[in-house]
Amino acid sequence: MSAPLVVLVGPMGVGKSTVGRLLAERLGVTYRDTDDDIVAAQGRTIAEIFVDEGEPAFRAIEKTAVRDALAEHDGVLALGGGAILDADTRALLAGRRVVYLSMDVEEAVRRTGLNAARPLLAVNPRKQWRELMEARRHLYEEVATAVVATDGRTPEEVTQVALDAL
Ligand code: S3P
Repeated sequence: MSAPLVVLVGPMGVGKSTVGRLLAERLGVTYRDTDDDIVAAQGRTIAEIFVDEGEPAFRAIEKTAVRDALAEHDGVLALGGGAILDADTRALLAGRRVVYLSMDVEEAVRRTGLNAARPLLAVNPRKQWRELMEARRHLYEEVATAVVATDGRTPEEVTQVALDAL
């Protein structure tokens, strides 16, 4: 059974896909993203799944997608920002190299703005961000073997810090 070389976790908009691609390039491996897997398998966008079926249904789909990707992929794997909400998923991350890309709330608001494609931020993004970070920060920290702050850093700089931390 293969296992990802590196798993990236962290909030939406933190740059998991940009940094993940750069990291994969530097390591000479492939990049995979569980959000992309879900969209491909479902033939719908993540926002459509949220609207059609609600968040609990999305989380169930995500849980399976993450489990499969963790079993199949041997490169860099980025998880959707909320994947770590699931306790079984967190348990599956034990013993792996997991990099938590972090950012503070103001940076998050600045980066994602009023992006309607992100269903969790549809109203009052600053308040939503504060709540999301408060609810999730400790879960990201729980699964992480390295934490890389992205605030004020370019994706290339974040990638280098992540590589140094591996
Ligand atoms: C979510 C993050 C998104 C996507 C969905 C829910 C979250 O992934 O899975 O919109 O709960 O934080 P990204 O972190 O890749 O944007």
